[in-house]
Amino acid sequence: MCGIVGYIGNRDATPILIEGLKRLEYRGYDSAGVAILKNGNLNLKKQKGRVAELSRKALNNGMSGSLGISHTRWATHGGVTEENAHPHVSQDGKIAMAHNGVIENYVSIKKFLESKGYSFYSETDSEVFVNLIAYHYEKEDEDSPTRFFDSVRKCLRHIEGTYGIAVMCTECPNELVGARKGSPLIVGIGDEEFLIASDVSALISRTSNVVYLNDGELVSLKNGKLNLRTTDEEDLEPEIQKVDWEIQDSELGDYEHYMLKEIFEQPTALENAMRGRFTDDSSTAKFGGLNVSAQELRQVDRILFCACGTAWHACLVAEYLVERYARIPVEVEYASEFRYRNAPLDKHTLVIVISQSGETIDTLAALRESKRKGYKTLAINNSVGSTIARESDGGIYQHAGPEIGVASTKAFTSQLHIISMLALYLGRLRDMSYQDGVEYVEALKKAPELVADALKLNDQIEEMAAKYKDMQDCLFLGRQDMFPIALEGALKLKEISYIHAEGYPAAEMKHGPIALIGNECPAIVLATQPDIHTKLLSNIQEVKARGASVISVVNQSNPMPEGLVDDQIVIPDCHRSILPTLASIPMQLLSYHIAKMRGCDVDKPRNLAKSVTVE
Ligand code: AGP
Repeated sequence: MCGIVGYIGNRDATPILIEGLKRLEYRGYDSAGVAILKNGNLNLKKQKGRVAELSRKALNNGMSGSLGISHTRWATHGGVTEENAHPHVSQDGKIAMAHNGVIENYVSIKKFLESKGYSFYSETDSEVFVNLIAYHYEKEDEDSPTRFFDSVRKCLRHIEGTYGIAVMCTECPNELVGARKGSPLIVGIGDEEFLIASDVSALISRTSNVVYLNDGELVSLKNGKLNLRTTDEEDLEPEIQKVDWEIQDSELGDYEHYMLKEIFEQPTALENAMRGRFTDDSSTAKFGGLNVSAQELRQVDRILFCACGTAWHACLVAEYLVERYARIPVEVEYASEFRYRNAPLDKHTLVIVISQSGETIDTLAALRESKRKGYKTLAINNSVGSTIARESDGGIYQHAGPEIGVASTKAFTSQLHIISMLALYLGRLRDMSYQDGVEYVEALKKAPELVADALKLNDQIEEMAAKYKDMQDCLFLGRQDMFPIALEGALKLKEISYIHAEGYPAAEMKHGPIALIGNECPAIVLATQPDIHTKLLSNIQEVKARGASVISVVNQSNPMPEGLVDDQIVIPDCHRSILPTLASIPMQLLSYHIAKMRGCDVDKPRNLAKSVTVE
């Protein structure tokens, strides 16, 4: 997704903006640009390609000034061209803007502006947007001290769609303006400087004091003052918050890729998920921010889990864990489907959304739809202060630390662990006994150590990856709580190695996918559950009978018969409540090594973004 960084302060903006863009690269982009305002002149550099190239151009050309904006673009309207890259400048050359989001009524605005004599150099909705600001600026009283801020506010009233913007004006060299609706925007309050960014990682190296803008709010950063108001002219008191992680948490360190670093951070991420979240008698979990009482939770007769992508796989695991341990019926929905389905839900339904970024627009829309219908909503989320965190009625922060790799790893197992803790909590509100609760907590506390053991499979899996790196198709099979892990394993493989991979319930293979099976299409079979081991053994034999290679994932107590499978990955025995977490580790490592051997951009896979904030 696009990234925005703006700066106004006592230091040279250019290197700060470039550094900020580098920290946003993980979000995915295809072009980048920077604009610096100095002595009333706008110096603009933008281009297709990487930030490193932009940095060379900008810094080598001596771009400097104390006010600037910059942008990484993930193309929505218009192709990947230099003209379409941001920042965009109005026809009169006075207004420069970086924009995230999609303007739905840009065609009608463009026609209106053309009727006023405006012409356009790009195919983007953002260029229309910046010219509408310029149009309002020309209509404002020249002597008004808030002329620029007011022109942005008045323009926003005509905009339909989503935006996060950073805007500056050549005639206002001491003011930077930002606004948001549907696309995240954060203000960083530094030492005699302000930053605006679409993501905390772009400004965390300069300050951890931030203000998260809400939809319909705009901010003026001028002469060392922060002025926050709504598009309806209501003045607001900014709520300054502290970011809950440090810049070094997002450094690559000695790892080759963020994805590998985050895979190996999982024991710590699980520890963080549990910190302070068990009762003194260690018989159940406790959560500080649910904002829903035990009495209310006892009334819940259905839970709807809703998310996108990997987070949706976590929802599927939640169905197995919550129904097994809390005996509450669970429904799982893709957020993008639920938001339009107008589902008839029982009035005691609890809606839980899961989102690492807390900004996925479909998940946010599903949350808002649930709230509109009066349902209690909770969020399991890894981004403090994110839109989903702030708009849900309550929730559970993952505290997994920043996840930079586009392919979700530690955030996913952190979500699984929190779901497992939530299943325990809900179970103990109902029929789970004290003793069962104590054993469950012991199992949860062992998870980091068992994950660390599973990570020791790394070398074996790297060796195995070399055998399978050239496959073109692959089937991931699993039953029960391993079915979502089969889906997740397939997603991991396809999104970073570009190999076609499908996850399927193992028993379903005979209803179609077995037609794919052959020596060109290996199968990865998750056979970790003792109670259905023989069923999976049969599935493996069916696959082997058709000449396909099989990698089985098993636990120590239940290996496959000698010689049956081509490769076997053995994970430690564990309590059923943490089995999905443990089984995820080999899936992550296998996809990582195969993608790396195929020369793929593991951290920034093609066409993908870390947070999907456009529909
Ligand atoms: C997973 O590896 C992908 N990066 C993607 O499916 C992701 O899980 C999905 O976009 C949801 O993101 P969120 O958790 O930030 O809402």
